[in-house]
Amino acid sequence: MNYVDWLNYKDLEYRQGILYFANLNTLDIAEKYGTPIYVINEQMIRKRYKELKYMLNLVYKKNRIYFAVKSNTNLAILKILSSEGSYFDCSSTGEIYTCLKSGIPPDRIIYTGNMFTDQDFEFSVKQDILVNLDSFSQLKRLAKIYEKLEKEKILISFRYNPEFGAGHHPHTITTGKDIKFGILEHQMVKVYSKAKELGFKKFGIHQHIGSGIIEANDYEMPVEKFLIIIEKIIKELGIHFEFVDFGGGLGIPYHPETDPLDLNRYSDIVIKKFKESIENGEIGEPCIFIEPGRYISAESSILLTQVNTIKDNGFKLFAGIDAGFNTLIRPTLYGSYHHIIVCDERDKEENSKYDIVGPICESGDIFGKERVLPELSEGDYLTILDAGAYGFTMSSPYNSRPRPAEILINDGNTFKIREEETYDDLLRNQIVPDYLK
Ligand SMILES: Cc1ncc(COP(=O)(O)O)c(C=O)c1O
Repeated sequence: MNYVDWLNYKDLEYRQGILYFANLNTLDIAEKYGTPIYVINEQMIRKRYKELKYMLNLVYKKNRIYFAVKSNTNLAILKILSSEGSYFDCSSTGEIYTCLKSGIPPDRIIYTGNMFTDQDFEFSVKQDILVNLDSFSQLKRLAKIYEKLEKEKILISFRYNPEFGAGHHPHTITTGKDIKFGILEHQMVKVYSKAKELGFKKFGIHQHIGSGIIEANDYEMPVEKFLIIIEKIIKELGIHFEFVDFGGGLGIPYHPETDPLDLNRYSDIVIKKFKESIENGEIGEPCIFIEPGRYISAESSILLTQVNTIKDNGFKLFAGIDAGFNTLIRPTLYGSYHHIIVCDERDKEENSKYDIVGPICESGDIFGKERVLPELSEGDYLTILDAGAYGFTMSSPYNSRPRPAEILINDGNTFKIREEETYDDLLRNQIVPDYLK
């Protein structure tokens, strides 16, 4: 894909030197709302959701997409996806609460947590939320909570750890013997057998191999292993599965030289392989679930920011901006690449190389090293791309910097969907003991 097409793929284009996002002038947005600010393109969320739904429907109609809420928890985003018919994958009771608040019914939520507390179980059982367990030891505790609350034990699911995985960073690979997630092969039959014995009547099965996977081939081995274990459980226990959940992990092209994930290949490796197992009569006819977060939300958002300092220290040029790793932590946390471009390239001198850095009091507060950009001046606006997944949700008020606002673009109009925090928000829950007053 050439560079212009790559930008267009993300709904970005330069018109007479000014950057437009979702058909809106980014300078106008920055000036109207201030920076730093997350700007979200509703159409992009719908588009990416529809791409995945189309891919699934082509092969197997009994499918559901569970949006991984951890990637973006904004209520407006959840509403948009709800209106598309999405289901929701939650990793905490806080995410479940958020979904319920946005009007999502409990039967559209799956709770794939880890290290569950009894309080987590009580919360989800009370709300009739399906729990996806990832440890044998949790099963008896969950069953007890069902009994205590006098709720019927119907559907339960377990997360399998196939030991093969992938991800954009070691911390996002979620499989392997030394990884905390999921249940290893040798315990899989045992957990379903125990669940049956404890009175659960319906079963699902799940795996999630990692996050930020741009090579569809990385799914091949884990999917093969997954289908084998499913068959084995069915054969040994005589149960059938209501659903098979292949997790998320579908990556996006953060770098202009990276092509988008090949969805046809993903479909061949994951969806068609699953369909083959059904056709071979090996696994019954379960519903297929996938749990994408990043694929749907990442490219929907840009982070607009303003250059406040151009610093030439004699060795290199720094462009200091008003967003920091408190605003978007991925570059600092994972060394992740986020493409950065100017909002206005008119009347710009030749290219220069900058380290783009934030205002946080840490040397690691770097968005990009030696980025080639048109010569920058203090006051210029920059756009950081692909900020919609694990962007705002991983932000923090570190250095007592309030979190920014979020803006939604729909059909050429902008809507504020989150207020920027205030200094009072930062102090809201603090209590000074009387003796210190
Ligand atoms: C269980 C589970 N499902 C889905 C996801 C979504 O991953 P991604 O945003 O890479 O699609 C994650 C991410 O960590 C996860 O842990």
